[in-house]
Amino acid sequence: MTTIQHISFEDLKSKYQTPLYIYDEAAIRKQCKVFINKFRHPKVSSNVIYASKAFLTIAMAQLIMSEGLHLDCVSQGELYTALKAGFPVEKIVLHGNNKTKDELLMALNFRVGTIIVDNDYEASILNEIVNDKYKVSVMLRVNPGIDAHTHKYIKTSTLDSKFGMSILDPRTKETIKSLNDNPNINFLGTHSHIGSQILEEHSFYDHAITILKFYKEIKELYQIDLKAVNLGGGFGVKYIKSDTRLDLNKVLPELLEIVYQTANSLEISVPHVYIEPGRSIVAEAGYTLYTVNQIKETINKKKYLFIDGAMNDHMRTALYQAKYDAFIVGKEDMVHDTTYTVAGKACESGDIIIEDILLPDAKPDDLLVVRTTGAYHYSMASHYNRLTIPPVIFVKDGQSKVVVRKESFMDLLSHDEALV
Ligand code: LLP
Repeated sequence: MTTIQHISFEDLKSKYQTPLYIYDEAAIRKQCKVFINKFRHPKVSSNVIYASKAFLTIAMAQLIMSEGLHLDCVSQGELYTALKAGFPVEKIVLHGNNKTKDELLMALNFRVGTIIVDNDYEASILNEIVNDKYKVSVMLRVNPGIDAHTHKYIKTSTLDSKFGMSILDPRTKETIKSLNDNPNINFLGTHSHIGSQILEEHSFYDHAITILKFYKEIKELYQIDLKAVNLGGGFGVKYIKSDTRLDLNKVLPELLEIVYQTANSLEISVPHVYIEPGRSIVAEAGYTLYTVNQIKETINKKKYLFIDGAMNDHMRTALYQAKYDAFIVGKEDMVHDTTYTVAGKACESGDIIIEDILLPDAKPDDLLVVRTTGAYHYSMASHYNRLTIPPVIFVKDGQSKVVVRKESFMDLLSHDEALV
């Protein structure tokens, strides 16, 4: 791969310098279309909500809007970005745990489509501040206790999770009742998300069945037929060659079929189904372009390939021991016989981008491209060591477009105040 969308990596380096986040816009759009076209069922109504925490800028919100997905925001910052991008408010879902009254008020003032309440305390705040000027749609985040096989930092549905209320906790049902009884709230149903980077299809199916059984309990207890269900995101992607690939073409329609059949067999109404993918929309469309600065061999013959970025723009290896694939531009056909550890320039031993990767013999000034960096890279980047966060470009049909400008040192200082 020497070009991306018909543009060479060398040209991108000379135009924008490195490090650089590159998104293949056509690949993001293609993935949006897979979700829209495959998450369909003749007898079940459904929507796809993009979880913007994976990657959000004004341009990205506009892309999502043009592809017809809804948007999930978890903070005032994400909400503000969406509003500035002109995203239709009725298609915005305000999410996140530990929301402040101000956040809830902002959502109400802007009339966002749906608010997802995390727990009974948050429900009590919302119950107090809603008014009869506009009937807001609300869901309650519940925790179905499904153990998805993923890294413990990105599991979300264990019983003691900080997110949501357990379906085993009697207070959960009471909270549903209180929200449902509020005349200023259009209570839709529950939201649950079992974790991220899940590659086993049955976890998604077990999840849906568990929630619908809970819907049946609610129906029996309060005669409430919940109208909708949000089953979260978590669809895993392929980071390295040995990863299995989740077949979205199969999982998405099957998930709706399972909802349909389970609801029918439990004799409850078939709810409207939402899902909230983040990573699977953008991860594989993103690449990070670096320049090799130095190569160092330790006394034990460990070879470091030092690039001009750092964990600041690539947090996931340090945080989750995530694995990545990379290639050196123009050397893909050469023998890959040298094991390198790709590391950055941050003052931290954990500043590793890739531990042990087989590459061809590398030289300073080579260009290294790390694949599958579209999700949770730019969005989790930091200024540690006062390093600047790389710019972001979209590429499509031989054209490149800056969607986040390169930071200057002045930008870094823009919030500093002098002492004297
Ligand atoms: N919905 C909710 C409520 C979520 O908490 C998340 C992710 C999503 C949807 C989207 O999940 P996805 O489809 O992207 O798996 N920083 C971590 C991932 C944290 C995920 C947080 N929640 C990482 O880099 O792996």
